[in-house]
Amino acid sequence: MTEKSLIAVWGSPNSGKTVTAVKLAQALAARKQNVLLLCCDALCPSVSTIAPQGAAKHSSLGELLSLPALTQEELLRYALPLDVSPQIALLGYKKGDNVFSYPSYDRERAVDLLTLARHLADVVLVDCASYLSVDPISTVALELADSVIRLHSCDLKSLMFFASYLPLLTDARFRRSTPISVLSNVKPEQDGREYSEVFGGIQVTLPHVAALEQQAASARLLDDCSGKEAAAYNTGIRQIIGLLLPQDLNHPSKPVPASSPTSSGKIADVLQRLWPKRRGEDK
Ligand SMILES: Nc1ncnc2c1ncn2[C@@H]1O[C@H](COP(=O)(O)OP(=O)(O)OP(=O)(O)O)[C@@H](O)[C@H]1O
Ligand SMILES: [Mg+2]
Repeated sequence: MTEKSLIAVWGSPNSGKTVTAVKLAQALAARKQNVLLLCCDALCPSVSTIAPQGAAKHSSLGELLSLPALTQEELLRYALPLDVSPQIALLGYKKGDNVFSYPSYDRERAVDLLTLARHLADVVLVDCASYLSVDPISTVALELADSVIRLHSCDLKSLMFFASYLPLLTDARFRRSTPISVLSNVKPEQDGREYSEVFGGIQVTLPHVAALEQQAASARLLDDCSGKEAAAYNTGIRQIIGLLLPQDLNHPSKPVPASSPTSSGKIADVLQRLWPKRRGEDK
């Protein structure tokens, strides 16, 4: 992985893309990476389900994409740095947005956004929409990503989804990187091994964790998820990080308290400079 990486999290609907993207963002932040988490699915805006407290101050990705020109300054103005984890900033659609809320944008705009984002964060993590036809950012993220994390789940719908979509991804422009295949949200009663065989090439399994389901249900995904029940899940996240990061970056450092200065990475620096100004404007 290069210093500034673009990672796309994509897979079948409801497979755990958003949950996994948030947990990966936290794991990367613990490894001193500044992360821009881009939630680009307008079908079901997720920012307010990830950071409900910050969401009120958050401006929509749709507005940003509708500006006459995209600049780094504008991108920073729209990114929402998380109080609980200042190394992570969120950018996505607002509660109430839908696919008709903003003018449609083209592929070139999506390329511009991802290119600018890449200059601002150590890692740009894109929580993609499953349905690529409705969302140019997800499609372009799959084309440009250094790594694609492909999530499957143990059900027939997921099998049908991949049977339909994988032929579309055989085009050379989607073959820049080899995807990391993950079997996600595997419940004890499900036969993960059999599904792994059917999907083929599964490298990591993320088990179902009741506490994680609770976090998702109560908009607390940024809470810590540790303990015995989550151990196998956290091992899976570490395995994915191991496939993404070079060895020397692969160990978590002590959590950074929200009130202390963050590492020297750009997103924390720039956002910290800009964010107090924006808070002042809000008053
Ligand atoms: N490892 C897990 N353990 C328990 N529950 C999980 C796990 N992963 C995902 N879930 C549950 O599965 C549901 C779907 O997760 P998530 O929203 O992340 O999927 P998604 O792929 O982003 O969905 P969409 O296609 O709607 O964007 C959530 O309600 C979440 O609680
Ligand atoms: Mg999602």
